Amino acid sequence: MALWGGRFINESDELFKKFNTSLAFDYILVKEDITASISWSKTLMKSNIITKKEQIKIEQALFELLEEIKTKDKKNNILFSNCEDIHSWTEEKLIDKIGELGKKLHTGRSRNDQITTDLKLWCRKKIYILLDNLIELQKSFICLSETNESVIMPGYTHLQRAQPITFSYWCLAYIEMFRRDVSRLKDALKRLNISPLGSGALAGTAWAIDREELALSMGFNRSTNNALDSVSDRDYVVELLSSASISMMHLSRFSEDVIFFNSGEASFIELSDSITSGSSLMPQKKNPDALELIRSKCGRVYGSLISILVVLKSLPLSYNKDMQEDKEGLFDTIKTWNDCLCMATLVLKNIKINSDICRRAAEEGYSNATEIADYLVKKGLTFREAHKISGQIVLHAIHQKKPLHSLKLSTFHIYSTLIDNDIYKHITLESCLKKRISKGGVAPHQVHEEIRKAKKRLNIF
Ligand code: ARG
Repeated sequence: MALWGGRFINESDELFKKFNTSLAFDYILVKEDITASISWSKTLMKSNIITKKEQIKIEQALFELLEEIKTKDKKNNILFSNCEDIHSWTEEKLIDKIGELGKKLHTGRSRNDQITTDLKLWCRKKIYILLDNLIELQKSFICLSETNESVIMPGYTHLQRAQPITFSYWCLAYIEMFRRDVSRLKDALKRLNISPLGSGALAGTAWAIDREELALSMGFNRSTNNALDSVSDRDYVVELLSSASISMMHLSRFSEDVIFFNSGEASFIELSDSITSGSSLMPQKKNPDALELIRSKCGRVYGSLISILVVLKSLPLSYNKDMQEDKEGLFDTIKTWNDCLCMATLVLKNIKINSDICRRAAEEGYSNATEIADYLVKKGLTFREAHKISGQIVLHAIHQKKPLHSLKLSTFHIYSTLIDNDIYKHITLESCLKKRISKGGVAPHQVHEEIRKAKKRLNIF
């Protein structure tokens, strides 16, 4: 049943019907469509548009419908109906149940304010789940961080061993990123949680309804200010997709780091059998599929963000059917993001750290060269001069195929007589770490303190 038959003489073309329908994807909003309809019926009653008895009847029927769609089969049945969208479906079912009275529900309402209300309610529900998953992921990072405070590994720039860090410190870096994702989502939620219902088609509704009360009854913070904007606004979709894109970028960088740590070349960690797969041909292979999939799924999320931005660009006010294209990318993104957060948490839970290999890699890469430069600065050289000398010492060590700490004092003296025997204690990995006490540095006591703070923040005792 179409909601708009009266003005038309001829039937819609079947091809157009198929092209136009959104039911195949907006059926996901069925719960939100029904609950918002219940709230709407109460508003109609309070404004004396329907009687109390009528409202109770409508509400009961809608509750029945809500119960019915709890089973998967029934939900699937929605798809077999011939309805144009989920709003038409809900109204059709209501009329099936209570007859003529069901036809009163749409008084003062348009699908334009209805769809964006449903979508906001759905987004809000999903944001809470995403926030939980982002917290769970941070908790896994904390667990791993706590048990690996003493594991020294190389930190990289340009994928070259740069300076020693600890495995814990690496975990804390990701905690920072996912914390920002949480704050971005909470911020998006503030702007999203404003009710457009009662905006009508575009210019407000002609019935004297209390939009503010209606908004609060659905858990919104308030109602929107301008109906023209309310039915046109999809900023919250863009914000959610952009928050998702940034978080997926973090997840993809995490994946890439771990794929590298797990590679035969690095072997810093070993991934569990439970999240890896084998090769059909090469028996020795254990592939990091979970991480490769996270890394790649970032692409489709970016795609959805670009897609909605392009859909909305230059779109005249107010509602246009173009906006129906906001949903599939959003639905896919939220699922993908949630799946990837859960998968990343699982990967961390079963990871094994090869601390000896990590340490050896940190020792081998001349990642303590900066210490020689700092040492010479303390002896009075300018940093530029000190940098040059330590570079020469590193080159010498490379030619000798030796780490810096195994060079003789006489070798150091070729390059600078300012170097004394105490150089050896300055260039140990432990010393490199311990010195970095400026805020945010890798000094172990600071890392320890950061872990403590994160545990407190995440309620881990
Ligand atoms: N299926 C539509 C959408 O997703 C619902 C709103 C339809 N409004 C309209 N005027 N045709 O955007």
